[in-house]
Amino acid sequence: MEKFALPEGFLMGTATASVQIEGGDKNNTWYKWCEEGHIKDGSHCITACDHWNRVEEDTELLKELNVDTHRMSLEWSRVEPKPGIFSDEAIEHYRYEIQLLIKNSIIPFVTLHHFSEPLWFDEMGGWTKEENSRYFLEYVQYVVEKLGDLVTDWVTFNEPNVYTKFGYIFGMWPPGKRSLLKSFKVYTELIKTHIKAYDIIHSVRRLKGFKGETKVGFAMHIRIFCGISPVGKTLAKAVDYLFQELYMEGMIRGKIKFPLPKNGYRYCRGTYVDFIGINYYTRNIVEFVFSPSSLFHSLKCDKELEKNDLGWDIYPKGIYQVCKKYYERYKLPIYITENGISDKNDEKRPNFIANHLANVAKAISEGIDIQRYYHWTLMDNFEWLEGESAFFGLYHCNFKNQIRTMRPSGKLYGMICKEKKLTEEMIKEFQRN
Ligand code: BGC
Repeated sequence: MEKFALPEGFLMGTATASVQIEGGDKNNTWYKWCEEGHIKDGSHCITACDHWNRVEEDTELLKELNVDTHRMSLEWSRVEPKPGIFSDEAIEHYRYEIQLLIKNSIIPFVTLHHFSEPLWFDEMGGWTKEENSRYFLEYVQYVVEKLGDLVTDWVTFNEPNVYTKFGYIFGMWPPGKRSLLKSFKVYTELIKTHIKAYDIIHSVRRLKGFKGETKVGFAMHIRIFCGISPVGKTLAKAVDYLFQELYMEGMIRGKIKFPLPKNGYRYCRGTYVDFIGINYYTRNIVEFVFSPSSLFHSLKCDKELEKNDLGWDIYPKGIYQVCKKYYERYKLPIYITENGISDKNDEKRPNFIANHLANVAKAISEGIDIQRYYHWTLMDNFEWLEGESAFFGLYHCNFKNQIRTMRPSGKLYGMICKEKKLTEEMIKEFQRN
């Protein structure tokens, strides 16, 4: 750990997602995926952290962390239980939750799509059918009309690249498809839908006369891919292009690039984000493998680096590298929309937080305009295929009795949120070898 200071006005927060914490919803694609027995430890998102019934308690947790802002997602299947039928009850619930944040001086940052969809949308063919995106856009319009007086800051899609990779290429997540060609169609649909949603959010807020500057973006999972051999290096570039570049250039600039259908044309000319949202976790070494089903590559770890509980490399410098890369290219403010670690015993998280934030501070001191950092995540939650066996929380959550307990790293994070710096005293108290 090393001392650092973040500039005045820098905002710090936490990030969560509806299916991962709320529990109780049977109308979304992950509910069905759990019912079908895909979750490694047999757990189920129907439980999660029961956050739907514990909004007040969980707002208190946020207060204890001294966060300036909180990123949460809305569950589309709750808000629109049937096509074209919206639930006043669900929207009132979210209104109440957001008002609670505001009452406690926490700026709400709202994600509209975080890996889950209503079952009816999936049954219609999801994003593989061009005509279906209108349903998502109607949901966006409805939500912004209902909540746009309270919320200025929006994320359209969380990690479209991870969603497409696991849901449409490798079939490990809902909707369980395995088709590269189909996935390219989905890429194009998500790009076009993001751009339309960007326009809708801006225009609804403007036409309704809602106060405050509207800020819209998407949260992109950005990894560092590197190769060791010449083949590995070439493959790393290809993976970077397919996994990241297609979405970055598509969603930010409206470019539909090769090999997406109708590539070479510019869907529209402009810039369709107000910030670059980066979810940064790790780095991978790309190696060639003779296996068409894994697209001729595998992602390896670096033996030299420390790992989190899931075996991911801990590489704090990477957060600096990705911010620099995208800031130099797009010259837009950067929000770290997620960064975190699965660490059940909290042995590595204090250092993880300090070292990643030190790199953020370094980037800022070099003129890279990073404005926010959201730690993933508030409390242990339903971690997709890992179920209840990954531990990303600043609070431990006991899923049996729903008791939340702050981890030491939560205490450290709370102090950094308050002071916007890491001091010698904090290092003495929290440094782990
Ligand atoms: C996702 C989260 C997830 C986290 C940790 C991100 O890719 O947005 O939903 O829990 O990583 O795996």
